[in-house]
Amino acid sequence: MGRLVVAIDGPAGAGKSTVSKKLARALGYRLLDTGAIYRAVALEATRQGVSWDDARTCAAIAKGLRIDFVFEGDANRVILGGEDVTEAIRTPDMSQGASRVSAHPEVREALLALQRRLGESGGVVAEGRDVGTVVFPDAKAKFFLTAPPEVRARRRYEELRAKGYEVDLDATVAEVISRDQRDETRAAAPLKQAEDAVVIDSAGLNPDDVVHKMEQVVRSRERSG
Ligand code: DC
Repeated sequence: MGRLVVAIDGPAGAGKSTVSKKLARALGYRLLDTGAIYRAVALEATRQGVSWDDARTCAAIAKGLRIDFVFEGDANRVILGGEDVTEAIRTPDMSQGASRVSAHPEVREALLALQRRLGESGGVVAEGRDVGTVVFPDAKAKFFLTAPPEVRARRRYEELRAKGYEVDLDATVAEVISRDQRDETRAAAPLKQAEDAVVIDSAGLNPDDVVHKMEQVVRSRERSG
């Protein structure tokens, strides 16, 4: 039975990270969180005093990035140059930073080889915005997970509140819409679904239902591949 590359794309707040993690567990696959890589570039730029709008320097940072993923209990820890940055890359500030640095074609190009290397052996669930269209166009199982903006914003809001951030629901809706717009309209690898992706609307579904649907698709492709 072949171990595949499974690509899961979709907008912020569609439930990709929860579902990807559970799916990787269920399949016995590794998880490749490509958003974490863009977040790490934004964090490193901030630390070096580099503007997120400085495409060339951000691309240089992306090229030199030393990043590892370690499954620890239930968490997928992100290690940057030996330091655990799992929490540091998840702040609202780094969400904006990741969205800004990811708009530069030079940065995306610099991260392509890294992402492919991390997925090349198969047996991986790769999650992001362009993993099924650009990074792994030959992936044998592709999903596009989505939900209406209000549903996604409500999830983000509750997630941030649970972490102790003072957030406003209207501001979260506005933030989700502005991030969608930037992710969908940028010239380089905009967010769009692959033609051969299975589209799942997660509104009204719980993560386990979504994972179950996906697992069935992956298992049948494993058998036919
Ligand atoms: O999935 P996330 O929220 O961690 O992603 C952070 C940002 O990175 C998001 O605004 C878009 C960008 N991103 C991207 O452009 N391409 C990817 N494959 C993954 C993330």
